[in-house]
Amino acid sequence: MCGIVAYIGEKEAFPIVLKGLKRLEYRGYDSAGIAVNNGEELNVYKKQGKVVELENFAKDKDTSGGTAIGHTRWATHGKPNDENAHPHTSDNEKYAIVHNGIIENYAVLKEELIQRGHVFKSETDTEVLIHLISDIIEKQQCDLFEATRQALNEVIGAYAIVVISKDNPNEIIAAKKSSPLVIGIGKDDFYIGSDATPIVEYTKNVVYLEDGEIARLSLDSGLTLKTIQNETKTPYIQELEMKIEALEKGGYNHFMQKEIFEQPRSIRDCMRGRLMLNENYISLGGIEAYQDKIFAAKRLIIIACGTSWHAGIVGEYLLEELSRIPVEVEYASEFRYRNPIIDEDDVVIAISQSGETADTLAAIELAKSKGATIIGICNVVNSTIARATDCGAYTHAGPEIGVASTKAFTGQVTVLTLISLLFGKNNGEIDPARFSRLMIEMNAIPEKVEEVLKSDSYIKEIAEIYKDSHNALFLGRGINFPVALEGALKLKEISYIHAEGYPAAEMKHGPIALIDEEMPVFVIATQDASYEKVVSNIQEVKARKGKVIAIVTKGDKDVRKIADHVIEIPRTDDMLVPLLATIPLQLLSYHVSVMRGCNVDQPRNLAKSVTVE
Ligand code: F6R
Repeated sequence: MCGIVAYIGEKEAFPIVLKGLKRLEYRGYDSAGIAVNNGEELNVYKKQGKVVELENFAKDKDTSGGTAIGHTRWATHGKPNDENAHPHTSDNEKYAIVHNGIIENYAVLKEELIQRGHVFKSETDTEVLIHLISDIIEKQQCDLFEATRQALNEVIGAYAIVVISKDNPNEIIAAKKSSPLVIGIGKDDFYIGSDATPIVEYTKNVVYLEDGEIARLSLDSGLTLKTIQNETKTPYIQELEMKIEALEKGGYNHFMQKEIFEQPRSIRDCMRGRLMLNENYISLGGIEAYQDKIFAAKRLIIIACGTSWHAGIVGEYLLEELSRIPVEVEYASEFRYRNPIIDEDDVVIAISQSGETADTLAAIELAKSKGATIIGICNVVNSTIARATDCGAYTHAGPEIGVASTKAFTGQVTVLTLISLLFGKNNGEIDPARFSRLMIEMNAIPEKVEEVLKSDSYIKEIAEIYKDSHNALFLGRGINFPVALEGALKLKEISYIHAEGYPAAEMKHGPIALIDEEMPVFVIATQDASYEKVVSNIQEVKARKGKVIAIVTKGDKDVRKIADHVIEIPRTDDMLVPLLATIPLQLLSYHVSVMRGCNVDQPRNLAKSVTVE
């Protein structure tokens, strides 16, 4: 949460930072600000609202200068307003800071600083840091780097920070702990971003700061790196693989729409080099190396949040069915605080699109501290979680910019399917004929997703009918139960319609009381092992005058007779239905959101990368 961008070099810094903030807006969008140093003045512009408000506000102002830091905020401490927007400045207005994270001991530090005469202008935790830094400079007559290093030793919490000084436009200081920060190294300049998206169009050479590292980016002496304990480090320069086109809407109206339609490609990319159809073989090198440990484990524990947690439940059905390994799925936020019983014999699968989710990261650290082996399933390459795990597999979905997760979910389910097939084959729990059949079916999934996407205009018609609903129910059984959960989450988060997902049979234990002629009930009713039972559940809804929108297997006749609308998906193996059944629900939420005039890509109160707990 919160996005940070910075630039130092020969070019005009303000437009570069502004553009970068627009790229990072998915991380938070309740206020934005930029501080720019033109060698004489440190001008700070900040505004409540989206980055475009800041852009309009700064239009007629002096934004000249080659050094700038910027921030787009998702409020934690202090409401979203101009005062609480970053950057924050010291009393003497000489130093400015942007920060992503939470300073947990800010109250104590603030009290001490107030007693020493510092005057606070905002309600944020961040402001203590810049007062502390200027306090240290004044007392010790040290430079900005040293003062920042010392200040960070007094801080408890998470931070990615960038600090500049009015007196030295030739240098920027950056540091990180638990929140991400990437440094781009240009020819004669430097870029900083919370992720690589603001950097990629200028340079491919990047350094990912590690926890506890502090960097000096100087136009005179280049990049130097230390730990906050003052040990010198050598920067490890990596090459970015990201392509700039992946960050544009490419003709679609919204990123979410683009990302839904990208799924045939993203699923194919996820399987490339892994699903070896001709060889009848699955290759997941990193994970396979830990296979003995996994087979010896009492159980697998999957930890994740939100949509990734839903993918985890699909994974539970897949892993238990195909490889007969017991699985538990936990919300990372619960796992980390409930003193879980876990030891070195346990194997944990952590799932995260962003690879930055604070709860998932903390749950990983906890499991690691008990000696467990951690497998990561992440989308963002080189993200904190990807680096914190013992091994893993990327989803290769490409940047997901819409806040609501779509292609990352199908990527996660694809990886979990591959893992289940791999383990099932290697531990002899899946018979060879079924393995081969599933390989063929898996290989055909991208094409079948393409076919589902052709129903877009029909799904739009259904969205038109139900767009004004106040509530909605999503039902599924077996492996499609988590698909129902995911369908409900998508609808509520981007259209603000209250929606709940349930295992279809649970309906009669409570939710059935909600059903009346106003209530749309979305049911995954494909022809699998629980088909007849789901058909009975549909009858129960219809008997109470509910409206049923059913996702059915192509050619289905029975459900068509009783449902109000049916959306067909191609036939596939029961275990692979989630990869297809999810798509119409994504499209439906998308269209409802657009029709209700909601901000599809940046729904209220949400942020893509939840780096606070
Ligand atoms: C919903 C959504 C969130 C995320 C959750 C975890 O559409 O995107 O529920 O799934 O915040 O995020 P990651 O996967 O980045 O750990």
